[in-house]
Amino acid sequence: MKYSRITGTGSYLPEKILTNAELERMVETSDDWIVSRTGVRERRIAAEGENTVDLAERAARPAIEAAGIDTQDIDLIVLATTTPDQVFPATACLLQKRLELHGCPAFDIQAVCTGFVYALDVADKFIRTESAKCALVVGAETFSRIIDWTDRATCVLFGDGAGAVIIQAQDAPGIISSHLHADGQYTSLLEVPAGVSQSYDKVRNGQAYVRMGGSEVFKVAVNTLGQIVDETLAANNMQKSDVTWLVPHQANIRIIAATARKLGISMDHVVVTVDRHGNTSAASIPLAFDEAVRDGRIKRDDTVLMEAFGGGFTWGSVLLKY
Ligand code: ACO
Repeated sequence: MKYSRITGTGSYLPEKILTNAELERMVETSDDWIVSRTGVRERRIAAEGENTVDLAERAARPAIEAAGIDTQDIDLIVLATTTPDQVFPATACLLQKRLELHGCPAFDIQAVCTGFVYALDVADKFIRTESAKCALVVGAETFSRIIDWTDRATCVLFGDGAGAVIIQAQDAPGIISSHLHADGQYTSLLEVPAGVSQSYDKVRNGQAYVRMGGSEVFKVAVNTLGQIVDETLAANNMQKSDVTWLVPHQANIRIIAATARKLGISMDHVVVTVDRHGNTSAASIPLAFDEAVRDGRIKRDDTVLMEAFGGGFTWGSVLLKY
């Protein structure tokens, strides 16, 4: 039986910082409201002409370097995004071209903020079934492109960025278990109600924006993430105290704190980036993970719980030994 283990991490944030003070000049809001309700102080915004694949490449290259592999060793690319560069080809294929890789499977995953958890699980299954040996898994977003910058309920929340990991086959875990879920009954609470087959004129006119029933989403997110903690631990006969690090999706510090309480883990062992990154959707977990690996907080053999909740609704977790 093969398992996959993360052997390299990387991430990238666009240069431009958008602060709460700047948002105060754009919509009727305040730094105080944003910080107290969400924890966000600033977020990054991709430059004009800087697209999801650009962010993905700049996250993937340091991950490849950290893993100490040759780019040509990669035999699978799975890229999670809600903001692909084009309708097609998949952004994973655009990235494959940048990396001068030829022939390995490359595809996108669309599970909004849960995208990276879905992508990691899919790549892990390729490795467990010995269909791949070395996978590049990326979460990359230019969420600023689908934000209505006049809607204060959403524009203060999101940011752009990318994170990546290399996972490789080995004989021991690595990734211990993954748990994926979705419930389509909640689609209208969190959506961009336009796309290729529906209301394409909105896409053409740059009016395809995120709409969210924030407080309803909040309640479901807190409950659901509490349940996924229980489900993940029970599936592995593990105790809360076995988890060394929580690397949550970074939507809201209050949601993160509620999950940490449920897990009984101190906030010192929760990787938090929402204050500086905002919600970067599928990029938020690999961005946070890379930060904590590089600054030495997450160490080899630490047990890490990743969890996310997002549009769909989708939610899920990955439990791993780093
Ligand atoms: N500045 C000032 N006031 C604001 C702002 C703002 N930026 N935005 C909303 N308000 C007002 C509202 O109009 C409302 O005013 P009212 O009481 O007069 O009607 C009041 O603040 C409270 O609004 P709520 O939406 O109830 O505020 P809440 O405390 O729920 O916080 C938030 C809103 C931050 C969006 C929160 O609900 C949240 O984080 N929801 C979950 C987000 C999430 O996890 N999404 C999933 C992932 S995202 C994805 O998948 C794309």
